[in-house]
Amino acid sequence: MASEITVDPGGPLRGELRVPGDKSISHRALICNALASGEAEIRGLLDSADCRSTMACLHQWGVEFEEHGDTVVVRSPGQDEFHPPADELDCGNSGTSIRLLSGVAAGLPFRSHFDGDESLRQRPMRRVLDPLASMGSAVDSRSTAPYWVDGSAGLTRGFDGEIAVASAQVKSCIIFAALRAGESSRIVEPGPSRDHTERILGAMGADIDIDGPTIRIHPGATLSAQDVEVPADISAAAYWMIAAAMTPGSELSLPGVGVNPRRSGVIDVLKSMGATVELQNLRDVSGEPVADIRVRGASLHGTRIDGDLIVTALDELPALAVAAAVADGVTEIHDAEELRVKESDRIATTTAMLTAMGISVEDWSDGMRIVGGRLRGASVDSHGDHRLAMSAAVAALASEPESGPTTIRRASAVDISYPTFWRDLDRLRHVPV
Ligand code: S3P
Repeated sequence: MASEITVDPGGPLRGELRVPGDKSISHRALICNALASGEAEIRGLLDSADCRSTMACLHQWGVEFEEHGDTVVVRSPGQDEFHPPADELDCGNSGTSIRLLSGVAAGLPFRSHFDGDESLRQRPMRRVLDPLASMGSAVDSRSTAPYWVDGSAGLTRGFDGEIAVASAQVKSCIIFAALRAGESSRIVEPGPSRDHTERILGAMGADIDIDGPTIRIHPGATLSAQDVEVPADISAAAYWMIAAAMTPGSELSLPGVGVNPRRSGVIDVLKSMGATVELQNLRDVSGEPVADIRVRGASLHGTRIDGDLIVTALDELPALAVAAAVADGVTEIHDAEELRVKESDRIATTTAMLTAMGISVEDWSDGMRIVGGRLRGASVDSHGDHRLAMSAAVAALASEPESGPTTIRRASAVDISYPTFWRDLDRLRHVPV
């Protein structure tokens, strides 16, 4: 990943932009439909490296895909008919692929080997392997990829208890195993992590009840394939929302964005900083709330981000840190230790980026203290992390005009979740103000 991109400081952002499909929902639309026997059409699927990883792994178990533009038809024999993979399941950079598919693998009567890139190989996996072992799956003793999961002995027990971290990846892994267990499961969530898996499986006929933080799953229901229309990704829209919100004079529309309350913390944080963000035309699309988002630029002020807001704005925290960098006053982020185990250590990489751009940032174990100031163009590294590359672009746009451009190293990391990011940046910058 040797690419380098230079971004000049920019003015207000105007116009309308449809961002690509939601990454989390795309993974789940593929995986959940792979479990059912039959055919489903997924419209608006995100075409990115992470979703390709999920498709390649499912294909090794016997699932077929047919692509027509941004519509993908999933054709599956159903989980009962999956066959042993010929090769290891290479999840690339994708934590969602490896963790969700590990739960599926625990319900299969053979061994599946998982691996990923250098970043994925450093991420903690006992958080999924231990619960699977507690349900009766044989699992590797390693704590990181590469590892194997072998469901040959059958999942004799259900899961019963609280998950160790507020993580949708861990929760979804356990849910996929619970669908195939010999007993019912009760999963208690420590925080409001995204619930796309529960929504789609419920629509497909899984026996799943949700009562506050408790999810009960009774195995044995037959899943029916379900067409899905994937909304635009709020995590992708967030870069433009933030870039527009922090630049007075901006006026931007982002149509058809998924605004699931467990994903929309970025809107709450921006509002708490004084931004004007409106949701229009709120509607339901394939069981998910969707809206057209309108953002107007303003002068922002510092805020505090902690507790459940961390879970609902998790992937947007590096970009929100950029908003904090130009806001008036201090922003504190607490309870965000999970950022340390993402595609990069996002507390360290965000701190390094903002410091290089002239901002005073203190990092501590579970967050950051950012003193609002003036961003200056600099040379920064994405560390191969897609969210850092895109946050750096937002910082570059908001930097002082006379401070010069920002060079972003390893800029092609955006291919993980938003391959058209640089093209969209170019488009938005060229809308006449
Ligand atoms: C995701 C869940 C989150 C998020 C990741 C995608 C998902 O991770 O950071 O980008 O699709 O389930 P955790 O659930 O591990 O916190």
